[in-house]
Amino acid sequence: MMLDGKRFLVIGATQGIGRALAGLAAAAGADVIVASRSAERVARTMGELTGAGNVTGHVIDLTDAASIAAGMKAAGKLDFLAIPGSAVTFGSFRDLDVADAMASMASKFWGPYRAVKAAEMAAGGSVALFSGTASRKPIGAAALTAINSAVEGLGRALALELAPVRVNVICPGLVDTEMWERLPGGQRLEMVDQARRRLPARYVATAADIAEFALAVMQNRYLTGAVLDIDGGGLVS
Ligand SMILES: NC(=O)c1ccc[n+]([C@@H]2O[C@H](COP(=O)([O-])OP(=O)(O)OC[C@H]3O[C@@H](n4cnc5c(N)ncnc54)[C@H](OP(=O)(O)O)[C@@H]3O)[C@@H](O)[C@H]2O)c1
Repeated sequence: MMLDGKRFLVIGATQGIGRALAGLAAAAGADVIVASRSAERVARTMGELTGAGNVTGHVIDLTDAASIAAGMKAAGKLDFLAIPGSAVTFGSFRDLDVADAMASMASKFWGPYRAVKAAEMAAGGSVALFSGTASRKPIGAAALTAINSAVEGLGRALALELAPVRVNVICPGLVDTEMWERLPGGQRLEMVDQARRRLPARYVATAADIAEFALAVMQNRYLTGAVLDIDGGGLVS
């Protein structure tokens, strides 16, 4: 098993990309710790993944400094830290309240910032942050573009400041995850169908597609300081 006995924490592991990544890491032999802000959802995910391997769990709320400090301490020394967790409010610059933009920044930027700062990484450890192609291809949500750009900058800087721990940023385009359940009616299906027709890959990724990529990135010993786009060609179209 490639990851036998490696300690692998995923913050934001109860659905979507994080859940898929936790499952793959467990299946590869890692000691996986699943975390999110919900004790109930962490317990449910642990139950679902237990068959895949050694899976434990903690509550870590990325918007709560005390929760991050306690959770990272409980997680102990880590070989791998992935942080796909975030809750972001979409909205145009004109429509989105500043308070909502700041809450999104707190969740997707400051939460990971604090978590990496509190992490005890093993020598040769590997961190993966998650941004999104809105960083470089704005989609009418200025706060999201700013947040994703900030995450990408943080990843590049930490690759130097935390070396030899490796730090990379996974930058997905549209991924058909539970995140889009927030869309009313058939809008999720419509959005995915439209993207499938528009994207050069003529395909929209699942959580598993991104998780497989993230796991390979995290394990590659020559990869650090990179922002890795996985977007079906969205950025060039
Ligand atoms: N899906 C896409 O189209 C897409 C595109 C570009 C970038 N991304 C980025 O890729 C990452 C993963 O996306 P996804 O689609 O898998 O997201 P998702 O389905 O919405 O899952 C988000 C995860 O984060 C957890 N979470 C939310 N707020 C949290 C908090 N305060 N503390 C800890 N955990 C928290 C949620 O768990 P609980 O509710 O149990 O806390 C959930 O497990 C995100 O950063 C997202 O912005 C996604």
